[in-house]
Amino acid sequence: MKAFIEGMPKAELHVHLEGTLEPEHIFALAKRNDIELAYATPEAVTAAYDFHDLPSFLTIYYAAMNVLRKEEDFYELTYQYFEKAAQNNVVYVEPFFDPQGHTSRGVEFETVISGIHRAQIDAEAKLGVESKLIMCFLRDMSAESAMEHLELSLPFKDWIVGVGLDSDERDNPPAKFAEVFAKARGEGFKLTMHCDVNQQNTHDHIRECLDLIEVDRIDHGVNALEDESLLQDIADRGIGLTVCPVSNRFVVQSLTSNEIRTMLDKGIKATVNSDDPAYFRAYMNENFIALTEEGDFSKDELVQLSRNAFDIAWLPEDRRQHYLDQLQAYANT
Ligand code: HPA
Ligand code: ZN
Repeated sequence: MKAFIEGMPKAELHVHLEGTLEPEHIFALAKRNDIELAYATPEAVTAAYDFHDLPSFLTIYYAAMNVLRKEEDFYELTYQYFEKAAQNNVVYVEPFFDPQGHTSRGVEFETVISGIHRAQIDAEAKLGVESKLIMCFLRDMSAESAMEHLELSLPFKDWIVGVGLDSDERDNPPAKFAEVFAKARGEGFKLTMHCDVNQQNTHDHIRECLDLIEVDRIDHGVNALEDESLLQDIADRGIGLTVCPVSNRFVVQSLTSNEIRTMLDKGIKATVNSDDPAYFRAYMNENFIALTEEGDFSKDELVQLSRNAFDIAWLPEDRRQHYLDQLQAYANT
């Protein structure tokens, strides 16, 4: 099963580029940019990773970003993630980036997106990994700030396929960003939002995503299983859910394999993703392998999870079919 997973062509639709910042890279960038770190070694950094909920993770995630300063830093971050993607047989990615995590520290929007974009071009040419970028707004910042960043992104519109919403969900419902997302849709962007696991008012947030924001996808969204009407609407509208098994384990002590199986049984387009793999210490294959160990998934189910990702990816139809054919050929061997 491990070899089958490793060889399977996969798409990743929920990975934060800043969440791929490895401890060794934090150290290399700190040295190059002359930044003092609170830890003596990369091992000491990972030893301090003690996540049990979203806020405890975000504190460490935002602190580490401080080493990212120059265009080449963002290039390296992104390219190194794509190298990991290629090793995992991830052939297509829609990565997130958090511009406000950088502009709030005085790094220009253009510096961030230029480094990321250059790495995307190189990764496609040299590694054969195709990607389309998603810009996330930080929901614990203001709607005005989100709108400003939407404006900042417009000169780079061709480099971005969609917008998302991440960071601390508590008291930051989707409705806070209704105007921003309506404008983003008008600009031609696809829409997704995080509905993290076990958040306060999670069912209301999922409902707002569906009816007020009219999202194209939901990131996480696992708690929809507790509400039959949410589940029905998600199934009827073909809304994809980007589930992150190892990430979930930090919050609910389970890889949510039962939940993922229920979604498959109900015809919901559930997918497997890594979220913040440098922090949760698991890239795509490790997520699939851990999930299968917990939930005893069949090869057919694993292929369905991978197929779902290509089905809900924001790809032109010819590219989607190309990947689906590639996956089917693999499943037939
Ligand atoms: N949820 C919210 N914010 C985040 C996440 C996440 O899974 N990863 C990075 N920022
Ligand atoms: Zn996430």
